[in-house]
Amino acid sequence: METQQTGWVVLKFGGTSVSRRNRWDTIGRLAGKRLREDGRRVLVVVSALSGVTNELQAIAYAPAGDDGGIPARFAGLVERHRTFCAELGLDPDTVLGERLATLVALETDPRAAVRALDWQAEVLGQGELLSSTLGAAYLSSQGHDFGWCDAREWLDAVSLPNASEWAQRLSVNCRHHAEPGFVERFSAQPTRMLITQGFIARHGDGGTAILGRGGSDTSAAYFGALLKAQRVEIWTDVPGMFSANPREVPDARLLARLDYAEAQEIATTGAKVLHPRSIAPCRDAGVPMAILDTERFDLPGTRIDASAATVPGVKAISRRNGIVLVSMESIGMWQQVGFLADVFERFKRHGLSIDLIGSSETNVTVSLDPSENLVNSNVLEALSADLAEVCRVKVIAPCAAITLVGRGMRSLLHRLSDIWAAFGRERVHLISQSSNDLNLTFVIDEADADGLLPHLHHELIRSGAMPVRDDSVFGPSWREIADGKPQRAAPWWQAQRPRLLAMAAAGTPRYVYDLATVRERARALIGTAAVDRCFYAMKANSHPAVLRAVVGEGFGLECVSLAEIERVFQAIPHMAPERVLFTPSFAPRHEYEAALKRGVIVTLDNVEALKRWPETFRGRTLWLRLDLGHGEGHHEKVRTGGVAAKFGLPLARFDAFVDEARKLGARISGLHAHLGSGIDDPQHWRGVYASLAGLADSVGTIETIDIGGGLPVAYTPEAREFDLGAWRAGLDEIKAAYPRYGLIVEPGRYLVAESGVLLLSVTQVVEKDGVRRIGCDAGMNALMRPAMYEAYHGIHNLSRLDDADNAAFDVVGPVCESSDVLGRARLLPKATEEGDTILVADAGAYGMAMANSYNLRALPVEEVLG
Ligand code: LLP
Repeated sequence: METQQTGWVVLKFGGTSVSRRNRWDTIGRLAGKRLREDGRRVLVVVSALSGVTNELQAIAYAPAGDDGGIPARFAGLVERHRTFCAELGLDPDTVLGERLATLVALETDPRAAVRALDWQAEVLGQGELLSSTLGAAYLSSQGHDFGWCDAREWLDAVSLPNASEWAQRLSVNCRHHAEPGFVERFSAQPTRMLITQGFIARHGDGGTAILGRGGSDTSAAYFGALLKAQRVEIWTDVPGMFSANPREVPDARLLARLDYAEAQEIATTGAKVLHPRSIAPCRDAGVPMAILDTERFDLPGTRIDASAATVPGVKAISRRNGIVLVSMESIGMWQQVGFLADVFERFKRHGLSIDLIGSSETNVTVSLDPSENLVNSNVLEALSADLAEVCRVKVIAPCAAITLVGRGMRSLLHRLSDIWAAFGRERVHLISQSSNDLNLTFVIDEADADGLLPHLHHELIRSGAMPVRDDSVFGPSWREIADGKPQRAAPWWQAQRPRLLAMAAAGTPRYVYDLATVRERARALIGTAAVDRCFYAMKANSHPAVLRAVVGEGFGLECVSLAEIERVFQAIPHMAPERVLFTPSFAPRHEYEAALKRGVIVTLDNVEALKRWPETFRGRTLWLRLDLGHGEGHHEKVRTGGVAAKFGLPLARFDAFVDEARKLGARISGLHAHLGSGIDDPQHWRGVYASLAGLADSVGTIETIDIGGGLPVAYTPEAREFDLGAWRAGLDEIKAAYPRYGLIVEPGRYLVAESGVLLLSVTQVVEKDGVRRIGCDAGMNALMRPAMYEAYHGIHNLSRLDDADNAAFDVVGPVCESSDVLGRARLLPKATEEGDTILVADAGAYGMAMANSYNLRALPVEEVLG
């Protein structure tokens, strides 16, 4: 049945929004605006003043017979409301006299002695009755056309089958399908605007019932549904729902638009902004919801409605603490008939609703969510005793449930390998994939969950599982909202546009390097106090002009092949050999011999080389590369530590290497580890230094510790620049702890990535089955990174840089491989046509260095500026 929307808008304000006079002014302004500008009638639903519900709970839940503190709490509540009333310029006796009398009378109510549930409900409901009374009086005093109404006259609690007595009184649901005439009766109230209470409803026996914690959102939703409102607005002190809790993950993104089902999952699995129960009433009635920020009303907030286009991908990651797992082992029987019925019946008996379920032939493990259940030790003990009749029980707590929410979880599994890897390091008790394909939950020990979320969030973005570039769904990050957009300097190539276009006219594909950028990056590193020497990993870009530029800034050079060593001495004939490192992988013997002959520093990473080629290494001074047991980096293919990696001597063979070297009279003067490339965590390198320094102490001949390269650059628009300050601070600290070793770094990418662009020419623009493609005269043959690592590079039409009439294009090359795609769904000018110049940004590292002539396509030309 199509719902006919009425003229009501429901606005809900939480505790912090009703505890200050200026916040009430905001409420008056917002409500007035809806009335005057949008022509709506307004219902405002409020929570209690902040902290009041906690006090009321302390009173309501105090064990019977324990009155310590209760009189003082009542007195405190009276005082708090009287003071605030006066602050609002109102007379406390006139406005609150009656209400406060009711509050105080509850202390001596006969039901108080036994803490009767209906008395508890009366107590808990007082906060909203007081705050709404204050608000109505204040808003009227300010000239707004506001009246007060008692929510209990309009919201009826419904008894759900199997709900415990407790739940039927203190965690109720309400009827939200209106009886005929409801809207008319409600609308017959005289004032254009009304204020009412969240959190409370009418119990079937005429008393008060409570909606449970966070119940004001649900009240607003019930009213929205019953009134068939235009919209329910949840006004809060955050800008909306985020892709993770911003307090834990500052890079969490605002979710601008969600459908009801996604919002429901996110709310259920941890986001505190919106109470999970509040979504179903609005969904059923087709009433759109909005979450908005009282302090920043210009922000768009989160909109929840049925029309949101379905975008597959992870929208949010959340964490719930205090989860209790109950593991039940059937006693001796495999797939015992009726086992589930037996155990579930016992949960029902204790009024416990089960959240997640994992099962095997003989075991069922379920989780209980404390926000939905009264899970205290008494209940658990009683439950365990009952369950022990039919199975062996183990209670595991406290656990944390970490949930990924989004549409099409199953189709994303291939992108989640790093997420699985992250959980692989923790003890996972239970994994559950919801049958609606909207969530994937991992339950681990609460202690293990600390610090995990920022890492997981980052991995979700990096792997493409969270499609943050889709701005119909993802808004700005929390950090951006708080601190403003990341200030990035305009890239050098923007100012060089005419020159670059002229170069492109002379022929493409063409790499162009800006040496000023290379020098600038080199200086930033060379000025690091804790670092004694810097080497440039020339595999990233071995153009002679680049080598001369970095050497000119004081860098040495790190090589991985004899050809690279030769390139060094060709480009810089007077290069001192001790400023050159040779760190090969599985190189042939003659390369080591040639390198040693040249006098460069040679690094070995296995015992076998020493054993097979003793004469090569006898009496030599060597460095040793270690595998510290784990790899890091932007893609699994660039992680160079851990069992899957071919690099480095495992720690278990460290002593064997040292012994073998001793036998040959070879001296180990340096320890080295490079665990991967494009590592975001600035603290990674201090950890490497600490590990190597610990080992160095045991060798006795070590002078130098090389902590590798791997510094990242910000390729994507949302990435932040690497925090060099934090990197330096980490190194300063660890160097102070182990001052006796020379500290060496050997970055490649960081120095050259941003200095280089790849210029291409458009060959064809084609639309096929709804996908538009811009074809270029080179693709993965010139730049392998997107095909090989799903790496992102900014792509621009340099011929039409200012043309903002864009459409989404895939940018592809001419190579006969489906992976020949430089970028997918990039916004580029619709007018793009044959002959335009395309610029691929940040291509200075591992661009030309990895180019090839597949399909017999010519290698790109290289050119240098500055
Ligand atoms: N040191 C050693 C021993 C290395 O193997 C590498 C890079 C580096 C230093 C420099 O790492 P960087 O600072 O550039 O991250 N082709 C991949 C990167 C492979 C890195 C190989 N080794 C990419 O395009 O992302």
